[in-house]
Amino acid sequence: MSESKPPVNPVAPSSGAAPTVSIVATGSYVPERVLTNADLEKMVDTSDEWIFTRSGIRERRIAAEGEATSDMAAAAAQRALDSIGMRGEEVDLILVATCTPDMIFPSTACYVQQQIGARRAACLDVSAACSGFLYAMDIGRQYILTGSAKTVLIIGAEKMSAIVDWTDRGTCVLFGDGAGAAILQARGATHGILPSVLGSDGELSELLTLPGGGSRNPASQEVLDGRLCYVKMAGREVFKHAVTHMANAATQILERYGMTIDDVACIIPHQANARIIQAIAQRIGAPMEKIYMNVDRYGNTSAASVIMAMDEASRTGRIRQGDMVLLVVFGSGFTWAASLVEW
Ligand SMILES: CC(C)(COP(=O)(O)OP(=O)(O)OC[C@H]1O[C@@H](n2cnc3c(N)ncnc32)[C@H](O)[C@@H]1OP(=O)(O)O)[C@@H](O)C(=O)NCCC(=O)NCCS
Repeated sequence: MSESKPPVNPVAPSSGAAPTVSIVATGSYVPERVLTNADLEKMVDTSDEWIFTRSGIRERRIAAEGEATSDMAAAAAQRALDSIGMRGEEVDLILVATCTPDMIFPSTACYVQQQIGARRAACLDVSAACSGFLYAMDIGRQYILTGSAKTVLIIGAEKMSAIVDWTDRGTCVLFGDGAGAAILQARGATHGILPSVLGSDGELSELLTLPGGGSRNPASQEVLDGRLCYVKMAGREVFKHAVTHMANAATQILERYGMTIDDVACIIPHQANARIIQAIAQRIGAPMEKIYMNVDRYGNTSAASVIMAMDEASRTGRIRQGDMVLLVVFGSGFTWAASLVEW
């Protein structure tokens, strides 16, 4: 799904007649506990050298005992709100992108609402695995453009440590926990968030799943014994599709708006694996200096990764007001998305 007709001249400032939607604040949160590759060497048959050369990951954060996805999401959201002196009550809609909800229901967004006092907000979760944040951003943007909401809080938050199999060295070394949040509002004077390229391919869903605990394989002793409540992944296959779809989506969105890599100040890809990111950069002809990477410190935080990286890039001055930022993600489903955001 994607909007087929681009604006006539998307790189020219908008007239003010048609409002654009912008990210007006961001925030992020990571748990304190650091799990290094050396720690993992004591848990499974692996080595720092293997993990770093295959994935670029050195360490990841792990949620505290009893800390749920909504706790991290609410902490990130509160930081975004505080950064612009906004109260939770001003939020009209909360969208939480996650594949590790606190519970199957109620939505994690409802728990965030409770924690930040967003009494007026409508709340729902968005399920698009690692691509979820850009899907949520596109949905939030449309709510504002149709006049259904003035202020939308979008969050990517994950407690991957709750769903990885800590006995499976092929997956447990790759993931981490964390959350990021962005506040969207209409702003007349900038390009803001341009309509995203979104795509999915359900034919390949079996390559990356969490099979147990849903309606297909409800929780049972058998499901637990078969370790079906953990991430199952065909790593090599996922790698190939991630590179292809992210590179294609990035190219597609640049072409749609008549831009090249030169028009983009910073590219923030889903932080799954440094080798995937390098392969995408090579395919789209982007120099590595343009790519933002923090996968070495956080691992793959799924739906949280791109907004955590955006918040960090903004706080450290890597992206500045007026910069055109290219975001590109990929995840289970398969799902993928690319967005252009004027910061
Ligand atoms: C998982 C991944 C890092 C594996 O790298 P790879 O180079 O493809 O490695 P392979 O899967 O070919 O495995 C090579 C060997 O390393 C072994 N291995 C797997 N994990 C290991 C680990 N943590 N430590 C040491 N050895 C490991 C495998 O068992 C295999 O051994 P074998 O050849 O004796 O069978 C890589 O495929 C990947 O990153 N895939 C994408 C994952 C991803 O990003 N998923 C989320 C997308 S949103």
